[in-house]
Amino acid sequence: MKPNQKSQSPKKNQVQKMFDSISFEYDLLNAIMTFNSHKRWKKNILNIAKKLKPQTALDIATGTADIAINLGAISNCEVIGVDISEQMLNVGREKIIKMKLGKSVRLESGDAENLNFKDNYFDLVTIGFGVRNFQDLEKGLSESFRVLNAKGTLIILETSVPENRIIKLFYSIFTRTYIPTMAMIFSKDKSAYNYLLNSAELFPSGTKFKDILKSVGFRQVQIKPKLFGSSTIYIATK
Ligand SMILES: C[S@@+](CC[C@H](N)C(=O)[O-])C[C@H]1O[C@@H](n2cnc3c(N)ncnc32)[C@H](O)[C@@H]1O
Repeated sequence: MKPNQKSQSPKKNQVQKMFDSISFEYDLLNAIMTFNSHKRWKKNILNIAKKLKPQTALDIATGTADIAINLGAISNCEVIGVDISEQMLNVGREKIIKMKLGKSVRLESGDAENLNFKDNYFDLVTIGFGVRNFQDLEKGLSESFRVLNAKGTLIILETSVPENRIIKLFYSIFTRTYIPTMAMIFSKDKSAYNYLLNSAELFPSGTKFKDILKSVGFRQVQIKPKLFGSSTIYIATK
């Protein structure tokens, strides 16, 4: 499975099945693989979002709904999370019930590349570790653009490869040793983690990703590297 191929390949089905199969261990593995930093980065997204005072927010590729749940803390904001993996959504739904957030956060089955929402509806769109799984990256980003209103903001969190050569070397050693070892110990589906690793290395990051955002129409793209550039938050306006 290659990241972001545009052909009529079954990538989307494979991605959906893969996330269905790792849904129960996803949160644990995410914590282990990012040394729990993903929680801090997701809080960063919430802090950026709060300043925008959105009344409507869409979390695309919401998975187990961490970001959607965080956004649920914004008062008077309707939050919807969508994902193609029903099993990931089910884990998210249980968390929402436990946290009694059912009135502000709703999860729906939905494809980032074909969103079931009208044009210009959302004040905010967020996508955490989702874009590199899209079958057609430009199509997915164009859909985010379409559903955002004229003053809307897109916030993306995605893995990236550090630009500094020495840090990049350490990053490479780390991702090829620690992550496969952890996947071997904790995961039922080793191939899923090979895919996640390869797609992270091949995915365009930093200024390359900024150029793609601009090519689909986004403006004022900000790049905020996290943990030596191993992940990046991108903020863009419509
Ligand atoms: C790595 S998980 C990220 C989950 C969550 N956003 C987070 O930050 O932890 C990627 C998610 O993207 C979803 N996904 C992949 N392609 C998608 C698409 N075309 N539309 C909607 N969701 C998609 C997968 O099902 C999976 O739940």
